[in-house]
Amino acid sequence: MIFDTHAHYDDSQFDEDRETVLNGLAAAGVGCVVDVGSTVQSLEKIRELTERYPFVYGAVGLHPDEVGQLTPEIMEELEKLLQNPRILAVGEIGLDYHWDVEPHDVQIRCFQEQMRLARRCGKPIIVHSRTAAADTLQVIREMYEDSGIELPGIIHSYSGSLEQAKIYTAMGFFLGIGGVVTYPNSKKLKKVVQGIPLSYLVLETDCPYLSPEEKRGSRNISANLSYVVKAIAELKGVTEEEVERVTEANARRLFGLNAD
Ligand code: NI
Repeated sequence: MIFDTHAHYDDSQFDEDRETVLNGLAAAGVGCVVDVGSTVQSLEKIRELTERYPFVYGAVGLHPDEVGQLTPEIMEELEKLLQNPRILAVGEIGLDYHWDVEPHDVQIRCFQEQMRLARRCGKPIIVHSRTAAADTLQVIREMYEDSGIELPGIIHSYSGSLEQAKIYTAMGFFLGIGGVVTYPNSKKLKKVVQGIPLSYLVLETDCPYLSPEEKRGSRNISANLSYVVKAIAELKGVTEEEVERVTEANARRLFGLNAD
C-alpha cells in the first residue's frame, strides 16, 4: 500500500470535500497518511483529523514562515500534542530563504528549538528546506550527527544535491519524494533518486501542493502518488510493487507503526 508521509488535508482547499477525498483514498491504494503541521491554526485541525480517520496520523510544528508565532505557550501546546500516540513527529520545521518571512537567525533558532523538542519527546522531525540547503544541512548536522539517534526524520520534498543526500542518509534521514520527480526538468532530483537506495526514500504528496506532471495545475491528493511510484520504479529499474512495499516499510520503521 501507499504511505503518504506528508499531506495537508487541514488546508482550506479541502473544506468543500475533505471527507469525500479522504474516504476515497483506500480505493486508490493509499493506506496511511501523515498530516503535517505548518501554522498555529493547523495544529488543532490535525488532532481532529487523526481522531476522525483511523488511517490519518499527525505531525505538529511551525513552518519557518510561521515561526514568528512560536511563543512559549505554543511550545507548550506542541509538547502536549506530542504526548498523543497518533502524533508521530515534529514538523514541518526548517528554513525557508525563498519567502524569507522571518530573519535567518530567527528561523535557525526556532528550527533548533523545535528539534530539541523532538529529541526530548523521542520523535522524528519532518524538515522543510527551501533555498537554504547549506544552512539546513549545517544546523541538522550540529543537532544529529553523532547523536546516537538512529532514525532522525525526513528531509521533505528533497531538493538538494546527491552529495548532500548521501550525508543526510548517512545520518539516518529519509528523503521525501513527491510530484516533483515526475517533472521533465527535475534532472537533479532524478539523479538523487537513482543514486540513493530505495531503503532511504519515502513517498509524499505535500497536497494540496506539488501535483505530479500528469495532474499539474489541479489540486494534489494522495491518490496521485501512483504517478510518483511509477516514476521512481522507472528510475530505479524495479517494479511499482517494490517501490510501494519498501517505502511503506521505511515509513513504518521511522514512525514506529506496525503493519495491520
Ligand atoms: Ni508541506
